[in-house]
Amino acid sequence: RPRRPCATEAGQAPLSLSSPSAFMASSLTPTFWWGTATAAYQVEGYTTANGRGASIWDTFSATPGKTYNGESGEKADEFYKRYPADIKLMQSLGVRHFRMSVAWPRILPKGTGTVNQAGVNFYVTLVDALKAADIQPYVTLYHWDLPQTLQDSYGGWGSSRIVNDFAAYADVVFKALGSRVTYWTTFNEPWSFCFMGNANGQHAPGLTDRAVAWNCAYHVLLAHAAAVKKFRAAVPGGKIGMNINSDWSEPFSSSSQDQAAADRKVEFMAGIFGDPLYLGDWPASVKQRVPNLPTITSDQARDIKGSTDYFALNHYTTLYVKDAPGAYGLEGLLDASASANGPEGLVGPQADSSWLYTVPWGIRKMLNWVNNRYHPGEIYVTENGCDVPGESGLALPEALNDTFRVNFYQGYVQAAAQAAAYDGVPLKGYFAWSLLDNFEWADGYAKRFGIVYVDYSTQARYVKRSARYLANLFGTVGSA
Ligand code: NOJ
Repeated sequence: RPRRPCATEAGQAPLSLSSPSAFMASSLTPTFWWGTATAAYQVEGYTTANGRGASIWDTFSATPGKTYNGESGEKADEFYKRYPADIKLMQSLGVRHFRMSVAWPRILPKGTGTVNQAGVNFYVTLVDALKAADIQPYVTLYHWDLPQTLQDSYGGWGSSRIVNDFAAYADVVFKALGSRVTYWTTFNEPWSFCFMGNANGQHAPGLTDRAVAWNCAYHVLLAHAAAVKKFRAAVPGGKIGMNINSDWSEPFSSSSQDQAAADRKVEFMAGIFGDPLYLGDWPASVKQRVPNLPTITSDQARDIKGSTDYFALNHYTTLYVKDAPGAYGLEGLLDASASANGPEGLVGPQADSSWLYTVPWGIRKMLNWVNNRYHPGEIYVTENGCDVPGESGLALPEALNDTFRVNFYQGYVQAAAQAAAYDGVPLKGYFAWSLLDNFEWADGYAKRFGIVYVDYSTQARYVKRSARYLANLFGTVGSA
């Protein structure tokens, strides 16, 4: 493995290598995991089949004005029925790892109480089908589809009652799938669902109350710790983590104020969950700035700290951050204002989603931040990907020729490989978001993140150029 010093200044990384694939092959170990990622509500459809209960996303989507064109996950990709063909498609692309989530309302339609055996059976059958195709499932317990009953009866993540209910749900899934699945995560992007769901109202349940959002973050940590206790008993030898999302924040100027604001911004994203999990408490910047922040007691810290076996990072983009004294706004989240209008040439091309700028070197910096702050031993990128400007308006042949996405993947995978090769980051795997175009939450079907195109009127799948690019890369570099 090549190890040599490199420039770490923005834009200074050695990006122009003659053979990117050969570089990636030499940088990433032969046991590297290449995969694709999905989530239950975004792909499954069949939201009332076989006893599934309603989730907060069914309710939110049905509320006028909340999602693009009022779209919902009711049909999505019909993965619930079409998974056998989608598994064959993954096989044809050489995909050996598949990140999926379990829908809590399929397992426990009312969130607690009687287990819906049909829901359990669906996931057992799916996991067995994946394994029969030599694809290892990587299972997330919660990707945002909270049973509506729990929102209605006690306010969902805003209440401490969620802690035991989540752990009980997790235990049902551990017992059903534990002998079949080694790698797990409890929560997908708690930053997103706590703050976008409860503070800025863009996601379900659509609340705009910061206190609820911080209580959500606190209860997520407690629920994670409670679930991991069940996990240790139910799945000996299993590995569990949390999918933590973070943008990279680059200081807007070289002033110490902007530098401090950029540091705070990452602490207010990755640090909200990473610090308690690895260091035992909220980041100091969070404690200083958030009024009425729930206290993590020393007993709770003991259970939370050290409860993950690896770090799972979801990463997409980089923003400039300026100091904004006194600001406590949600974009630039909570204490620093973020701006994409930096010096020309630094923040890269904008994707279809307005929040997403192509900044390959940002993933390298983000991986280094995680490794230097937490020393987690193993790091997986569990989501990375993009949509393509104007893609949903393109005719099929143009949509399939997604050069923008190919460039995105090439840049980000190469920068991640540099983190592994030059910076000593223990990067063990990489999952592209997403296998299929799917329900992109508040943006409905208008945003397409798939490496495979889905024609929603026929449910036909078409392989995009980016999928061929990744298939070739997975094949060249190898996938354990
Ligand atoms: C993060 C989320 O986990 C996923 O559900 C979403 O579709 C992607 N990012 C793209 O926005």
